[in-house]
Amino acid sequence: MTVCEAPGKVYLFGEHAVVYGEPAVPAAIERRAAVTAEPRSDDHVRVEAEDLSLNGFTVEYSGGTGDHPDVDVPTPLVEAAMGYVDAAVRQARDAADAPDAGFDITVESDIPLGAGLGSSAAVVVAGIDAATRALGEPIDRRELADRAYRAEHEVQDGQASRADTFCSTMGGAVRVEGDDCEPIEAPNLPFVVGFDGGAGDTGELVAGVGELREEYGFAADTVESIGDVVRTGEALLADAVAEGAPGSGSEPTGDAEPPAELLAELGELMDFNHGLLSALGVSARSLDSMVWAARNAGAHGAKLTGAGGGGCIVALDESDATETALSFTQGCEDAFRAELATEGVRVVEP
Ligand code: MEV
Repeated sequence: MTVCEAPGKVYLFGEHAVVYGEPAVPAAIERRAAVTAEPRSDDHVRVEAEDLSLNGFTVEYSGGTGDHPDVDVPTPLVEAAMGYVDAAVRQARDAADAPDAGFDITVESDIPLGAGLGSSAAVVVAGIDAATRALGEPIDRRELADRAYRAEHEVQDGQASRADTFCSTMGGAVRVEGDDCEPIEAPNLPFVVGFDGGAGDTGELVAGVGELREEYGFAADTVESIGDVVRTGEALLADAVAEGAPGSGSEPTGDAEPPAELLAELGELMDFNHGLLSALGVSARSLDSMVWAARNAGAHGAKLTGAGGGGCIVALDESDATETALSFTQGCEDAFRAELATEGVRVVEP
């Protein structure tokens, strides 16, 4: 039995635009999906999922086609989760050159499904890592990130960037632009997350942005403007690290906070990024309410994170005010501080 776990993420900047080759900066957070893989003597795959911020489910199938699970959770979410596990198993079989390998898989996750915190990427990354290790064929992180991307790409009908899967594999903050993926140094930012209890359909939302971009030149310009916001944000982060902002690099962060001026500037860019995402039609009333609740509470800035449509926002606030305000905001089901996860995927049981 092999257990691996991988972190979720928030987007500081750049979701959606990253699908069209603009840069993005996601950051891993300390909410993880753990996947257990136990090889079987036949070619079946049995999946048991617990704690997906929903009721769990169990489904057994063979040959890679998921049977319909008998569960009390919204079917599209279960089907989506099954699709990602299926794709992870296919990648692990391919990597280990073991096309008939069967597994008992258990997924335990405290990352809400489809809510913009990278639940699917974390499951795919931890799943491929656990399954290849269970077959005695571990792969290195770059290959793992690449295979996890291919799994997401397949499930999302070819419309996925490398951002979520690379970030979940490597941990920390990363920069992704097309196929170019690198970890970056960043100060330890005071992220606060608000969750509306819902989820968006990533495939549909990504397709919607694609259609707008095709139809209107100004939608294509909006996507490019998001890229400009990201480039400006990246430069701020790089300057802060070069100037030795507290919490930067691999040194222990202690209680030191990044300079207020940096937070104010990053927050302004996050606000801008949220406005551009709204223009592309991927926000929602609940997300806008939480963004405004955070801003009114004094957050430096706030934006939706991930595909949108419902799910989570991320705000920057070193005080407790945003978390408190969000917890009293109608439509916000959960508010929590999200610590940067400096470690990406890790082995819990070899
Ligand atoms: C989803 O978490 C992020 C999107 O940019 C899609 C992707 O990058 O694959 C919307």
